[in-house]
Amino acid sequence: MESDWIRLMNITRQEKLLLTQFAVDRANDGIIWLKPDGCIVYANETLCKMVGYNAEELYKMNIDDLHSSHEKYCTRFERLKKLGGRAILEGSYRNKLGYFIPVEISGNYLLFDGKEYNCGIVRDITNRKIIEEELRYKNIQLEKKGKRIKALSKAYVQAQEQEREWISIEIHDRIIQPLTSLFQQMQTVFSVDPTSERIVDGKLLVLVKSAIKETRNIMNDLYPSDLGRHGLVKVMNEQLLELENRTGIKTQLSMGFCVTIPHSIEVTLYRIFHEALLNIERHSHANNVLVYLTLSDDRKLIELLVKDDGQGFDLETILNNSKSKGIQSMKRRAEVVGGELFLDSRRGKGTAIEVHLPVKEMN
Ligand SMILES: Nc1ncnc2c1ncn2[C@@H]1O[C@H](COP(=O)(O)OP(=O)(O)O)[C@@H](O)[C@H]1O
Ligand SMILES: [Mg+2]
Repeated sequence: MESDWIRLMNITRQEKLLLTQFAVDRANDGIIWLKPDGCIVYANETLCKMVGYNAEELYKMNIDDLHSSHEKYCTRFERLKKLGGRAILEGSYRNKLGYFIPVEISGNYLLFDGKEYNCGIVRDITNRKIIEEELRYKNIQLEKKGKRIKALSKAYVQAQEQEREWISIEIHDRIIQPLTSLFQQMQTVFSVDPTSERIVDGKLLVLVKSAIKETRNIMNDLYPSDLGRHGLVKVMNEQLLELENRTGIKTQLSMGFCVTIPHSIEVTLYRIFHEALLNIERHSHANNVLVYLTLSDDRKLIELLVKDDGQGFDLETILNNSKSKGIQSMKRRAEVVGGELFLDSRRGKGTAIEVHLPVKEMN
């Protein structure tokens, strides 16, 4: 191999040695040869420039004077041997002015003429470290921004819930209550004086009654006060029954767990369920709806599945459509409490919405 090299270059063995020395001296990376005790026996020009010492000064030094580490060099040398003679590590060299230079050192164990050496290739990685530091800083900023956006979304959803609750209470106090007393007074008047019913439209009572019912429905859509009173499962059951009565779609609810969940998670589940039912009624043309409410095996997630056998839709088109506010709001609501929403739908194959929410709300 060696003789090939010499023959090809048409040079003598002596010239080859000089050429190798010349190349090593001017290599792009620093090159340093060390004895097992850390004494420096050779340093190329690049290394000298890197640390600010000349070769003569370096040959009087030990690598422990240069390489700042909590470990003595001999420990690293033994490890290098155990690792099969090659290892790369990051560290720092202290230059003549006392500044630290970040370096990447590639260690190579050599046994030459019965003596052990480590031939280290040392690369100044100051620029790499600056870039890494910039990236780290940018990542922290991004993480902070992400957290801020999450906190804002959460505050937005909470404010929305509070406002809806407030509007719902206002509707109850300012509209339903007067309407109910009007209804009762009309009933009394009509029962005391049956002729009065003929003076006004005979259907007036029915009209007022249906106005009260509709207003209650709006109130309930705005804020499910029944949720606090009767719990999620009862409210879900009632809504499925109402859907059946209204549309003829067969519904089935199955649930198999017993845990108390935070109000915010319950409201989120309800909102997503409610939107899913609205979509089924408005868009699906389904005959059957299945709702499963379960707990994940590790009991950390509540899983809600709402599945219909309707006409389905093209997922990509709908997900890229900014008008799909209902679906977007379901996703956002799930994410705000640290959960996830999965959507599966194909034309002619129905739609399935699956939500996984943490049993304990994440901050
Ligand atoms: N269960 C479903 N079955 C069929 N199509 C659905 C269903 N759910 C949603 N879609 C389709 O997805 C679209 C977006 O739904 P959504 O974001 O809730 O907005 P909107 O209900 O206001 O149209 C609907 O317009 C409909 O085309
Ligand atoms: Mg919708």
